[in-house]
Amino acid sequence: MRVTINQIKEMKQKGEKIVMLTSYDYSTAKLVEDVGVPMILVGDSLGMVVLGYETPIPVSMDVMIHHTKAVVRGTSKALIVGDMPFMTYHTSTEDAMRNAARFIQEAGAQAVKLEGGVIVADRVKRIVECGIPVMGHLGLTPQSVYQLGGLKVQAKSIDAAARLIDDAIALEQAGAFAIVLEAIPFKLAQLVTKKVSVPTIGIGAGPYCDGQVQIINDILGLFTEFVPKHAKQYAKLADAMTGAVTEYYNEVRSGKFPTEKHSFIIDDAVISELEK
Ligand code: KIV
Repeated sequence: MRVTINQIKEMKQKGEKIVMLTSYDYSTAKLVEDVGVPMILVGDSLGMVVLGYETPIPVSMDVMIHHTKAVVRGTSKALIVGDMPFMTYHTSTEDAMRNAARFIQEAGAQAVKLEGGVIVADRVKRIVECGIPVMGHLGLTPQSVYQLGGLKVQAKSIDAAARLIDDAIALEQAGAFAIVLEAIPFKLAQLVTKKVSVPTIGIGAGPYCDGQVQIINDILGLFTEFVPKHAKQYAKLADAMTGAVTEYYNEVRSGKFPTEKHSFIIDDAVISELEK
């Protein structure tokens, strides 16, 4: 049985920190789950860190479904959240419901995430009413990167901070089971965390959220285009990979790899027969 949204909500009540991490493929998801991470996000950040786009905007439903299926196949215990891509929940409630349903029915996820507050609250309510758990996402919402003028910290003014609180309350009332708070001042994240009964999951929102989510490529030091201020590199996998690939390259060029040890054998008699 996979982790349920009720268990995630209970963690807030018990004061247990909630750990969430992104994954985009089978083997990484397996490894993340084996560590004990209870909730995995198949984020549309994959557009940037896996597919090399500048923003998550080009990511389509089909791409998200493809990666979510791989993550689901690699796991059996974690709660898998599929990230609804740009314009797959804005156009109409019907589109939002149909696309949310694809994550659950086709890809095997247990929840979906979508960006926005008051503006999407009616969609959140309908999706939840149909039995699909929804995670909200406020603050820096990367799908609005052009409207926001860049991927930068949000909600610093009184008006913007007040709007964010209203958005969080609207999501809670619409039935969201958790809310991601991205790139907002930590004291505001702390206030939101006190005001809503559902867990807040921070990324660049400081230490006082109920949980934390990070992009796995950032914490592994695998995405080197830029390192977000909020990310801590627990490893430098890009360096380790460069080292390994360089060694492989050199050994193939010099004939050191492969040796007979890495090869398959055949009876010498067969070769002698063929050489006649
Ligand atoms: O797409 C993503 O990975 C996300 C996280 C940054 C929360 O939305």
